[in-house]
Amino acid sequence: MDKFIIEGGNKLQGRVKISGSKNAALPIIAAAILTDEELILKNIPDLKDITTMINLLKELGCFAKKENGTLYIRCKNIKSSKAPYELVKTMRASILVLGPLLARTGVAYVSMPGGCAIGVRPINLHLKALEIMGANINIDKGYIVAQSKKLTGGEIYFDTPTVTGTENILMAAATAGGKTVIKNAAKEPEIVDLANILNNMGANIEGAGTSTIIVNGVKKLGGIEYSVMNDRIEAGTFMCAALITSSFIEIENAPVYAMDAIVDKFREAGGIVEQKGDNLIIAGGKIIKPVNIKTSVYPGFPTDMQAQFISVLSLAEGVSIVKETIFENRFQHVAELNRMNADIVVSNNQAVINGVETLIGATVMATDLRASASLVIAALAAEGVTEILRIYHLDRGYENMETKLANLGAKIRRIKA
Ligand code: EPZ
Repeated sequence: MDKFIIEGGNKLQGRVKISGSKNAALPIIAAAILTDEELILKNIPDLKDITTMINLLKELGCFAKKENGTLYIRCKNIKSSKAPYELVKTMRASILVLGPLLARTGVAYVSMPGGCAIGVRPINLHLKALEIMGANINIDKGYIVAQSKKLTGGEIYFDTPTVTGTENILMAAATAGGKTVIKNAAKEPEIVDLANILNNMGANIEGAGTSTIIVNGVKKLGGIEYSVMNDRIEAGTFMCAALITSSFIEIENAPVYAMDAIVDKFREAGGIVEQKGDNLIIAGGKIIKPVNIKTSVYPGFPTDMQAQFISVLSLAEGVSIVKETIFENRFQHVAELNRMNADIVVSNNQAVINGVETLIGATVMATDLRASASLVIAALAAEGVTEILRIYHLDRGYENMETKLANLGAKIRRIKA
């Protein structure tokens, strides 16, 4: 397993270009199942999770070819409706083929994703919504067995806004017979990106980005060329890197329109942000001010930025409180940060961070995607050398992280296993 060696204490400078969004690209790739025509998808990041989703679609019979950031994908014929456990267990987002498979072939045989490091990650809301649309769903030996002659529109209410649940139903409803109304839908910008490409393919979707989405089913969807949005979490991650090292950098192609909560907390913590078109001019403050954060659904502070911000706050001048409201076990980075001399106490899904003078390099272990990013951020500011094990977690969601950081002046290198 690869690891990172990072020598802390270096300021960053220069420009970094943000890649396409993993969480926009994953449902958009799955949407290729909905048509027998070719999708040409641009700005697709080179990530392990993206490769997994492409391999899954190839298993289903789709043709896919990726050439420097552009993915040519065509599901002319679906040869199999099975998403096997071997693939699904490596990436929960595989559940995103459930809705499209049901819509396209009337049958889907998708392994239950199972939990992951940050929580149980149920999919009951996905299944309940598909049943309302006329699907017959059973669980058999760890697989979801879903069948439906023809999905029909329905009135769906999500107990809690679910991002991939909303995306699954958007794709199932696009060609369903009749009108589907999704209430308490998730409002993340990645959902708007998916709705945009579906509408470009011929769908009739209104209200994406709000809590009520209306989908009038259409007969057929066609192929299209589309460029996915950039990654707001990657942009936020580099903002944290600049803040913790008190650096001055320029972030190119940040989806600033989707980053209000991140920019707001960054400023509250003493950072300076200037928007220049699609670029953000970032300056870390002289000191890091303590802030209180409560993660919530969009447009609130994203749970996917919680771990990265906790690393920054571990060096704040004062006490910060971070409440995680989305997932039940998303503080695994805290134990590793405390091994680097941070002073953080977690109870009842809340972290109390007493800022310390310095973090001290150590050998630490990545546990999940955003936790690994938080350890990189801490290592950039720590005294001495930090070794981060199990970097495969990071490779799932960050494209060329070490190259981008090294180009900004960080002393970072990957040791291949
Ligand atoms: C998406 O996961 C993202 N993944 C996650 O990003 C992100 O953390 C999460 O949304 C929240 O923003 C992708 O988009 C591929 P949810 P998802 O369904 O859709 C509960 C990353 O780091 N829930 O919005 O799985 C659930 O337990 C990843 O890139 C149910 O109870 O999250 C959670 O408490 C990590 N039943 C809450 O809803 C359901 O059927 C939100 O989960 C579905 C969800």
